[in-house]
Amino acid sequence: MRAVLVKQPGDASQLTIGDYETPTPSKTQVLVKVHCFALNRMDLLQRENKYPVPPGASPILGVEVSGIVESVGSDVYDFKPGDAVFGLIPGGGYAEYAVIEAALTMHKPDALSFEEAAAIPETWFTAYQALFFVAEFKKGQDVLIHAGASGVGIAAIQLAKYFGANHIFVTVGSDEKVKFCEELGATKAVNYKTQNWSEVILKETDNKGVDIVIDFIGKNYWNQNMQVLGLDGHMVILAYMSGTMVENFDISVMLRKRLRIEGSALRSRTVEYQRKLRDAVYDQVVKEHFAEENGGLKIYVDKVFDWKDIGNAHRYLESNQSMGKIIVKVT
Ligand SMILES: NC(=O)c1ccc[n+]([C@@H]2O[C@H](COP(=O)([O-])OP(=O)(O)OC[C@H]3O[C@@H](n4cnc5c(N)ncnc54)[C@H](OP(=O)(O)O)[C@@H]3O)[C@@H](O)[C@H]2O)c1
Repeated sequence: MRAVLVKQPGDASQLTIGDYETPTPSKTQVLVKVHCFALNRMDLLQRENKYPVPPGASPILGVEVSGIVESVGSDVYDFKPGDAVFGLIPGGGYAEYAVIEAALTMHKPDALSFEEAAAIPETWFTAYQALFFVAEFKKGQDVLIHAGASGVGIAAIQLAKYFGANHIFVTVGSDEKVKFCEELGATKAVNYKTQNWSEVILKETDNKGVDIVIDFIGKNYWNQNMQVLGLDGHMVILAYMSGTMVENFDISVMLRKRLRIEGSALRSRTVEYQRKLRDAVYDQVVKEHFAEENGGLKIYVDKVFDWKDIGNAHRYLESNQSMGKIIVKVT
């Protein structure tokens, strides 16, 4: 088959389409002819050889795909050749064929395009996992979601709104993104380049702070995150886009406010854990909202690239301009 290969670890110019062995599905997997795959930030790190690929995963980039089932393993009963599907994989998405565990595969509703379906697994599983599995979100709570216009941020804002959050604060890097996130359901979006976001949030909450912070930024936001977390607050660390080292941090705040700070990663979870997420997202989000036109929650595809243009797709992701998912069509 053809696949996107990395010539040498490095920048987007290292991506090229070449030949690679077609994967064979195990007993529990389906082999899918890929129509679309979606980009994720970790792909950029993996391209630079800075992201540890989970043991046993394909070294090819890409963790979410949509396409048509080509063949299935002997223990797979829920899918058959010809089915339109999408799913989460530990690697191998940037290719003509990919294998997906049946437990992490979903039937594509007719109302969804292959582009939209490929945009779901990584971001919606991650947002759902952070809010419900990790932070134990409850109706009426106040949440802060950083990188509000990111793929994960967009899903998290919509989930928090739908499941009854009180305040939904987000931080973003432009006024265009402020408008976008507030239209999406954020009660207050703050442009971190022009405003002190922690001051805004403390003012809006009468200094009470928030119950949950979903953080992707790390170092630069650490101290402000500690300030805006309220009593019994819970912060979920999903990434550290600004760095990892925090100096001169006084840990007493964690005790005073009884904080819980928890890191989480989707890609390294067991198939069994990911299957529970698939079931929750498929039942509560895909079937409820995406299976019909105008079903409520929305998938935001920012741009679709042809895979021959994969270098520019990566450059676009790196430019931080996107508001939603970047999808690549395998042609
Ligand atoms: N732990 C997990 O399981 C898991 C799973 C999926 C994704 N993630 C992580 O979650 C994050 C979001 O992923 P995504 O694919 O949804 O992202 P995305 O759509 O590519 O958006 C990322 C946004 O983050 C903002 N940003 C980038 N660098 C920043 C910095 N130094 N300080 C502040 N904001 C910054 C930019 O928006 P602004 O213009 O607003 O700055 C950028 O557009 C990524 O870091 C990704 O690696 C983690």
